[in-house]
Amino acid sequence: MSSIKKCLFPAAGYGTRFLPATKAMPKEMLPIVTKPLIQYGVEEAMAAGITGMAIVTGRGKRALEDHFDISYELEHQIAGTDKEELLNTTRHIIQRCTFSYTRQIEMKGLGHAILTGSSLIGNEPFAVILADDYCVAEGESVMGQMVKLFEKYQCSIVAIEEVPSNETYRYGIIEGQEEAEGIYRISNMVEKPGPEEAPTNLAIIGRYILTPDIFEIIEQTPPGKNGEMQLTDALLVQAKQGRVIGYKFRGRRFDCGSVEGFVEATNYTYARQKR
Ligand code: UTP
Repeated sequence: MSSIKKCLFPAAGYGTRFLPATKAMPKEMLPIVTKPLIQYGVEEAMAAGITGMAIVTGRGKRALEDHFDISYELEHQIAGTDKEELLNTTRHIIQRCTFSYTRQIEMKGLGHAILTGSSLIGNEPFAVILADDYCVAEGESVMGQMVKLFEKYQCSIVAIEEVPSNETYRYGIIEGQEEAEGIYRISNMVEKPGPEEAPTNLAIIGRYILTPDIFEIIEQTPPGKNGEMQLTDALLVQAKQGRVIGYKFRGRRFDCGSVEGFVEATNYTYARQKR
């Protein structure tokens, strides 16, 4: 059993970079080869010993709920054929996990999406996976690595990676003391800085473990960049108290929120499956 029992998936964003594909379909249902992004995320959480999946959805996102449910007609149709096994992975997930959903009514940013999910989480530390950041790891899953670290440090953990300095404007960038190889005690964070303001090139990516006091902090944090409730601003409050660890994870991340990253992930996964 993992010390982290629930994983929150903020999945309410509009996914405008994928229009028109995302007009009537959630971005998280875009497939990398034959599996939707959200399923990779759920499988990663399961690999970390987590079975409570909490999904923050929005308008037009019902396909997400249907995906993690039985489709009687379809199952009946393919029963006894060689296609039956194609549904094995979703069957396994449905049997082992519980799913809960809530809707974000107004898309006021990632911080707001996480606050919206608080009713599904309660007062316990929890994982967060942004399914459009698709992570592959040889060996232990990225979230599995982070849960181990949480067990040691008992504070919020954010996954970080080095990015080119001309890309810092797309991320939350951290600054901190390297306590052990690839493990930083974060002292400062800046949301989407240009190359001149970026204190380092260490970017936060879409994997977090958060302690539940984050909800109250988000509530009290005024809207930041673009008038959105930024998670980075709330995390900074914890970081100033020395309670956030940045972790350079082992593995590779694809930014599937961008068309380029999505195509790269597709090619990579297809080539690996053919091997
Ligand atoms: P992004 O900014 O990458 O997603 O948010 P987006 O807004 O859907 O994408 P574009 O820019 O329009 O193409 C990062 C994550 O946070 C979630 C998104 O679903 C995504 O997983 N999110 C963002 C919410 O759930 N609610 C929000 O209000 C904002």
